[in-house]
Amino acid sequence: MGSRTKILVLVFWLVTATTSFAATVTYDHRAIVIDGKRRVLISGSIHYPRSTPDMWPDLIQKSKDGGLDVIETYVFWNLHEPVRNQYNFEGRNDLVKFIKLVAEAGLYVHLRIGPYACAEWNYGGFPLWLHFIPGIQLRTDNEPFKAEMQRFTAKIVAMMKQENLYASQGGPIILSQIENEYGNIDSSYGAAAKRYIKWAAGMAVSLDTGVPWVMCQQSDAPDPIINTCNGFYCDQFTPNSNKKPKMWTENWTGWFLSFGGAVPYRPVEDIAFAVARFFQRGGTFQNYYMYHGGTNFGRTSGGPFIATSYDYDAPIDEYGHVRQPKWGHLRDVHKAIKLCEEALIATDPTISSLGPNLESAVYKTGSGLCAAFLANVGTQSDATVNFDGSSYHLPAWSVSILPDCKNVVLNTAKINSMTVIPSFMHEPLNINADSTEAIGTSWSWVYEPVGISKADAFKKLGLLEQINTTADKSDYLWYSFSTDIEGDEPFLEDGSQTVLHVESLGHALHAFINGKLAGSGTGNSGNAKVKVDIPVTVGPGKNTIDLLSLTVGLQNYGAFFDLVGAGITGPVKLNGLKNGSSIDLSSQQWMYQTNFDAPAGNDPIALDFTGMGKGEAWVNGQSIGRYWPAYVSRSGGCTDSCNYRGSYNSNKCLKNCGKPSQQLYHVPRSWLQPSGNILVLFEELGGDPTQLAFATRQMGSLCSHVSESHPLPVDMWSSDSKTGRTSSPILSLVCPSPNQVISSIKFASFGTPRGTCGSFSHGRCSSVRALSIVQKACTGSTRCSIGVSTSTFGDPCKGVMKSLAVEVSCT
Ligand code: GAL
Repeated sequence: MGSRTKILVLVFWLVTATTSFAATVTYDHRAIVIDGKRRVLISGSIHYPRSTPDMWPDLIQKSKDGGLDVIETYVFWNLHEPVRNQYNFEGRNDLVKFIKLVAEAGLYVHLRIGPYACAEWNYGGFPLWLHFIPGIQLRTDNEPFKAEMQRFTAKIVAMMKQENLYASQGGPIILSQIENEYGNIDSSYGAAAKRYIKWAAGMAVSLDTGVPWVMCQQSDAPDPIINTCNGFYCDQFTPNSNKKPKMWTENWTGWFLSFGGAVPYRPVEDIAFAVARFFQRGGTFQNYYMYHGGTNFGRTSGGPFIATSYDYDAPIDEYGHVRQPKWGHLRDVHKAIKLCEEALIATDPTISSLGPNLESAVYKTGSGLCAAFLANVGTQSDATVNFDGSSYHLPAWSVSILPDCKNVVLNTAKINSMTVIPSFMHEPLNINADSTEAIGTSWSWVYEPVGISKADAFKKLGLLEQINTTADKSDYLWYSFSTDIEGDEPFLEDGSQTVLHVESLGHALHAFINGKLAGSGTGNSGNAKVKVDIPVTVGPGKNTIDLLSLTVGLQNYGAFFDLVGAGITGPVKLNGLKNGSSIDLSSQQWMYQTNFDAPAGNDPIALDFTGMGKGEAWVNGQSIGRYWPAYVSRSGGCTDSCNYRGSYNSNKCLKNCGKPSQQLYHVPRSWLQPSGNILVLFEELGGDPTQLAFATRQMGSLCSHVSESHPLPVDMWSSDSKTGRTSSPILSLVCPSPNQVISSIKFASFGTPRGTCGSFSHGRCSSVRALSIVQKACTGSTRCSIGVSTSTFGDPCKGVMKSLAVEVSCT
């Protein structure tokens, strides 16, 4: 009997595994409709080339565990077609494999074909060869451009169809995007912009994908294309037709890092607030940009000045670990919203004011379904509101979610999820000195000669723009001059000191006089231009001025971004005389090479570039990206505890001021072999490679802080109000790895503890029993849960709202 059942089960499984069930995807004014059913969809961006294929399954699984239904990605044209008509879909570019992995996990895909992406990606994702097509004008009503855009878009659509990846074919793709935020800049393109957008819409629709198309930030998106919203908040957005659903394609979970800038972060209470507000006011599709940001390997970053790390403060960090409490709190928000799904898709909300800055939204159906959202959009004061006969406490800048219109399952400002503080363990590179390639200290280096040394040099009158000259084949272009300065030149009258004046469109430059470095200049993400005045010494007779101009990622955003040039377009002058200046000759250009062994274990690895200047690094031939630890951010304007209340912007919450913008550089595990790895550095400024170290990312501390007023964990939701009201809130801790246990309790306080994870302290009121109770409940276990109530801890201060704060470590 048993084996027969097994055979039947197996046969059934084979049938379901090989048959794909085509789904119809349409939309109406409330939602995306899949197979006739309106859906509330939570989506997150993961850009496939910003991680490695061996990381993809885990990233996708963590997205699913975090409550995502959809993975959103751009398609990066310049990766796939680096040379016109020569395609690359291998390795990190394997788009089909990525989409199939998402499908295997049971999630949907939103494919943003663009093919303009923006995305802090080099040249916005356009291949540079586009720029050299005669008569071309990008992103406007221009025949050569439209022909290329159509050819590539059609190629991607055909590829997806061939692999049966559209939902209409049984695949995971339920949505596609054409263009990207063109509406933000289209006024600069005049009347042609409208024609272009109409054409793009028609072209996309004609490709017949069987699933809807969207355009983001495009209020005039022609039917049937859905116009969608991007931003930190989209609750006030309405689509351009009441036949279209309210969709949010980019909810920025943090912000990108620039070389020279501080590290941006966005508090999860604010993201949760923005998400809940969006669903409160009628939204049904929401995407996190980014859910996993990842790494700009090689020369893929745009900008200019976009850093190699694209961590973005996303719910999954650059290294592929969940970021807590961000990931966990948003997972709880998703669960809370899904508890409301049936009511949300059934009807429009009824929105009412409950007082200044206080607003309720009720989704109520004739059949008795009811879900409600209560918001306090004030930035200063908490409030108590009366809603439907009951009273509710609403902290400032928060939304409470009531899946039954009665009980609060979640408040966006009250975090039940634990916090994890990561730490990096440093170890030296473990250089293999026995290697035959090793010279002397086991580092070998080659000096790149200053100035023109290659046979491909050419002469031209005047100064050339850099991108047109190099076609972005490299970051570097030498501008070399030989001057014959006679002793009787007027500006040399009182000696041989003068000032070299150089102006460049960007992004940085080094100036060498007679083969010696005389000075450098660099732009920044706000202004890429460089202007330097360098005092130099020139002798009588022949002098050489060698200027090394460099780009740090090509512009990716703005009207006519493709025409923003780079390089030393001048003027370049020797400007009169200056006395008493000295020239720093200590820096040189180097190239390094060595052998090293990989650190043991499976923890993600970073290389700590302390001691180095600026350049590019390769591990076993794979570029881990540009490094620039010498570029330090401004010293002011940072805070480690940003107030989440009030509108967020990308400058509001910054950390790491006065330090290198990026010091740690991700080295994917799959690029390392157990021993005999080769690290090659191209270093422009000079530095001490013996200081290079591995930083293995590990978990430092695990914390949680839950008050008596917190709702129960969202997993314990029950609409039976009696259960809801009688149980107390619960503080839970879980070690990140199942083979770890909670080894020590670093802090425990029940009463009025203060501070944040890593710096908790006791408040005026604290229970003497807290530490021993937590020790008993948690020590030696992988996970523990403790009731946050006076019945567990006794009451150290009557009539005061109390909370439990705990910090532990797992080993
Ligand atoms: C948006 C754009 C994205 C990305 C983002 C900032 O405007 O659509 O591609 O550049 O800004 O991270």
